[in-house]
Amino acid sequence: MDGVITTGLIYISLIIQVFSSGIFEMAILSIYNGNGRRSDGHCCVGSNEYCNDQCRTFVTACLLQHTTKVPELPECIFGNSSTAVLGGNVVLSQTLNDFELSTLMIRFQFSWPAVFTLVVDVRHDNDNHLSQNDSSQLILRSIVSETIYPPSFWYSQTTTGEDKSIQYTYRVICDDNYYGAGCEVFCRSRNDSFGHYVCDQDGTKLCLPGWEGEFCQTAMCWDRCNMSHGFCYEPFQCSCLIGWEGESCDQCIRKPGCINGYCHEPWQCICKGDWTGNDCNIDLNYCHKYDPCERSGTCLPDNQKNFTCECVVGYTGAFCESVICEDRYCQNGGNCSISSIGCECPEKYYGPHCEFRKLTCDETDCMNGGSCIPTQTGTMCNCTKGFTGENCKSDIDECNSSPCKYGGICKDGVDGYICDCRDGYTGNNCDIIMDPCMGITCFHNGTCVASSSDFSGSCLCSQGYTGHRCEIVINPCTDVECQNGAHCTSISSGFGFQCICPAGYNGVYCEIRSDPCQYITCANGGTCKSYTNHYICICDPHYGGKHCTSVLMPADETVSERPGNDIIPVVKNGYTEEDDDDTEEDDEGRQYTEEDDMLNVGSTRKKMTNVGSTRKKMTC
Ligand SMILES: *[C@@H]1O[C@H](CO)[C@@H](O)[C@H](O)[C@H]1NC(C)=O
Ligand SMILES: *[C@@H]1O[C@H](CO)[C@@H](O)[C@H](O)[C@H]1NC(C)=O
Ligand SMILES: *[C@@H]1O[C@H](CO)[C@@H](O)[C@H](O)[C@H]1NC(C)=O
Ligand SMILES: *[C@@H]1O[C@H](CO)[C@@H](O)[C@H](O)[C@H]1NC(C)=O
Ligand SMILES: *[C@@H]1O[C@H](CO)[C@@H](O)[C@H](O)[C@H]1NC(C)=O
Ligand SMILES: *[C@@H]1O[C@H](CO)[C@@H](O)[C@H](O)[C@H]1NC(C)=O
Ligand SMILES: *[C@@H]1O[C@H](CO)[C@@H](O)[C@H](O)[C@H]1NC(C)=O
Ligand SMILES: *[C@@H]1O[C@H](CO)[C@@H](O)[C@H](O)[C@H]1NC(C)=O
Repeated sequence: MDGVITTGLIYISLIIQVFSSGIFEMAILSIYNGNGRRSDGHCCVGSNEYCNDQCRTFVTACLLQHTTKVPELPECIFGNSSTAVLGGNVVLSQTLNDFELSTLMIRFQFSWPAVFTLVVDVRHDNDNHLSQNDSSQLILRSIVSETIYPPSFWYSQTTTGEDKSIQYTYRVICDDNYYGAGCEVFCRSRNDSFGHYVCDQDGTKLCLPGWEGEFCQTAMCWDRCNMSHGFCYEPFQCSCLIGWEGESCDQCIRKPGCINGYCHEPWQCICKGDWTGNDCNIDLNYCHKYDPCERSGTCLPDNQKNFTCECVVGYTGAFCESVICEDRYCQNGGNCSISSIGCECPEKYYGPHCEFRKLTCDETDCMNGGSCIPTQTGTMCNCTKGFTGENCKSDIDECNSSPCKYGGICKDGVDGYICDCRDGYTGNNCDIIMDPCMGITCFHNGTCVASSSDFSGSCLCSQGYTGHRCEIVINPCTDVECQNGAHCTSISSGFGFQCICPAGYNGVYCEIRSDPCQYITCANGGTCKSYTNHYICICDPHYGGKHCTSVLMPADETVSERPGNDIIPVVKNGYTEEDDDDTEEDDEGRQYTEEDDMLNVGSTRKKMTNVGSTRKKMTC
């Protein structure tokens, strides 16, 4: 019991090392089973005396911890594998179609333990399922207990039984990138930012030239590189830290501007010899070396500017080279002063020696209204606005800044400009876009319409009005011709017209003639007959007159029909046919015939001569 538990624990601890990886390989070389029987002596197929058929031979391999007592059905804790049916009673690897058929591989992912037991069973496939748990189907068992370290060469094994044998080889190798006795060392050669190394046969990292460190990640700098002040990212190089220079980065960089100095640390400027100053550019021994002061001046070291000359009275300058207050040192009446070293000039002069004469305002002509102002060295013109230059001569061109917008043309003036705007624009700078309708009044409810093409506005008039500003009232009668002498009047309410028709006419233009009989009553049974221009009452016998109102005498009985005497004046084309004479004649008892009626319309001769020709033509 104890042994089993211990083994189990070892097994678990081995399995946990999942980063190990390798393969136990086994290759079957030959199997021989002379009489086709199983290990228990029975035929694989058939009765016990005659084996009817060959065995259906396959092989299982079982890998387990080292043991001397292998049970019938061992537990393959290191792994197991099995072939398909390889053949009958004789199997030779050369005759197998597929070499892999006869090769068994047991892959492991734990640290290979080196010591192991291998159980190889040659079995008969009794049930076509390659069952492995029926111990009666065993033909031959081969057991090997061995100690092997990967990568191993091929070990070979031959096991024989009663007229049976199996010959095979086996070995243990690690997967790619796994090394060591247990295939537990992982190492993959690489050459990138995570490392620069190859692996040796034990899986140990060997750094590529120029790299070091546990993962060979650190570049080795050039061997003469001063590693206190240099570094490298690539092997055999030497880059300097700030403040250092040189191939080996062993030279400090001096303070910029340092002339006669050196450094121990970056940015120092340590002066050599007699030099001093921040930049070591001042020579404390200058006086001694160069004796720069003239005219018996005394040279003193000066840590600001190499030297200072102390001049004897009457001289000045850095080298005591200038003479003060010599004759004519100050000109034009200037007074020389030793104490202030210079000239006091009279009012009209200036300059170190009062040699320049000042201009006065009397002599200065400031133009264009400029005023003159006296200055230290002369005069100056204070120009009026809009002018500039010497003596205010120049007019400032205010158009320079192109102040006129939208294509307006600028005209320069004095202290100003005028913009000549294009149509449609206004304002001092032509920057106001004009409304073409601004200032345009359209009368009578007319509306102004703006034209964008020429910036003009025009009036759109309401009906009945016209004119530029709709100020003209259109007379509705202008184009109207009232007929038959009617005259046109406008209707005050709207824009319409009305023809006032004379009696006997109607219609919009009075063009329709009314029936002359329409409003006529012929008395005493008379009948009204209409004609073009008039009507006639046709009276009953015994009656006469225009409207059959007169009673006739019995002597006139022969007259059956008597036209009315009255001819009603009608209007035609503005001509009034009114003739009193006609009426009288008719009244005198003139006979009226049918023919007359047809031809002459009126009964008067006079009238007929007037209009007869017209009538005749009509009848023809
Ligand atoms: C053979 O290996 C399989 C898994 O690969 C496992 O399930 C089976 O139990 C093993 N057989 C024996 C007898 O250990
Ligand atoms: C062998 O295993 C199978 C299933 O895996 C089972 O059906 C059969 O009974 C077992 N045979 C023996 C003899 O244990
Ligand atoms: C490693 O990489 C560098 C640059 O990528 C290359 O120059 C060098 O030859 C490589 N070394 C090896 C051994 O592959
Ligand atoms: C680096 O240079 C400094 C001087 O700048 C020197 O003192 C030091 O010894 C050098 N170190 C090496 C490793 O060369
Ligand atoms: C001091 O004199 C040296 C020449 O001796 C010159 O190079 C340097 O610029 C001088 N320094 C100053 C501050 O003028
Ligand atoms: C120069 O000195 C004289 C006498 O001291 C004095 O009268 C005169 O005004 C001075 N001139 C100027 C320009 O100061
Ligand atoms: C220049 O003239 C203007 C008036 O024209 C005045 O206000 C201004 O103070 C003058 N400038 C000087 C410097 O006198
Ligand atoms: C103008 O129009 C208004 C309303 O649209 C109307 O009341 C008014 O009478 C009109 N005036 C004229 C002169 O047509």
